[in-house]
Amino acid sequence: CDDDDQLIIDAGQKQFGATTCSLCGMLYSADSPEDKMQHSHFHQRFLDAIKFVGWKKERVVCEFWDGKILLVLPDDPKYATRKADDVRKVADSELGFQQITLSSPSTAKTYLFVNSDKMVVGCVVAEHIRQAFRVLEQQPQQKAVDPEDILERHRAWCCSVVPERAICGISRVWVFSLMRRKGIATRMLDSVRNNFMYGNHLTKEEIAFSDPTPDGKLFATKYTGT
Ligand code: ACO
Ligand code: ZN
Repeated sequence: CDDDDQLIIDAGQKQFGATTCSLCGMLYSADSPEDKMQHSHFHQRFLDAIKFVGWKKERVVCEFWDGKILLVLPDDPKYATRKADDVRKVADSELGFQQITLSSPSTAKTYLFVNSDKMVVGCVVAEHIRQAFRVLEQQPQQKAVDPEDILERHRAWCCSVVPERAICGISRVWVFSLMRRKGIATRMLDSVRNNFMYGNHLTKEEIAFSDPTPDGKLFATKYTGT
């Protein structure tokens, strides 16, 4: 976030007494009873979505001292696919995705990181792709004051026009806000590379991130070492 972004956010918060919930991430006005009500609903839905009660059959692809990674496939039992959908919706709402559609729902693989407190704190959706366009290093851009310009600036990454071979497209990667920078996304991506194609370990070049956010780009750059 540069200074211009910060100024606008601060101004907005002063004007409307806005608070961001550190748990569910919702921005709301603590002065407005209606807003507070909406927040408490959203907050509860968020907690329900990430709560993990345990399943009869779990496809554990990796275990750690602080959690495990489960794989959910489209033909799995309803309890599993529903949880995968609920967590993906939480991620989508944070990413600001309007349309909750996957490019190929019948083949998408969802990886969920369940922590020792029985919460789904990470989600990766991986899909088969054939080619990708590399995100190029961002050019220094002119200052934007209009909030719409800022949105534009964050979204408009420069992409190469030369397609490169890729096998696995990462359409979503999300980690619960209070659990970030603990290597959860890294461990999930490592699992995807080991597990996505049977008997074949994918290199970091064979995975591609679709439409990364600023966070996503920082992570992807570090992860792929580019
Ligand atoms: N700022 C700077 N560097 C970062 C950041 C960040 N916000 N996030 C990750 N990195 C880099 C760091 O170098 C980090 O290593 P370090 O902590 O030792 O310095 C390294 O990437 C590995 O990070 P992880 O801990 O494995 O990543 P994390 O579990 O925190 O998850 C993620 C990263 C998924 C981007 C998380 O911040 C998130 O969920 N953000 C909100 C949702 C989002 O924007 N997702 C990406 C959308 S793009 C897409 O879905 C294709
Ligand atoms: Zn909340």
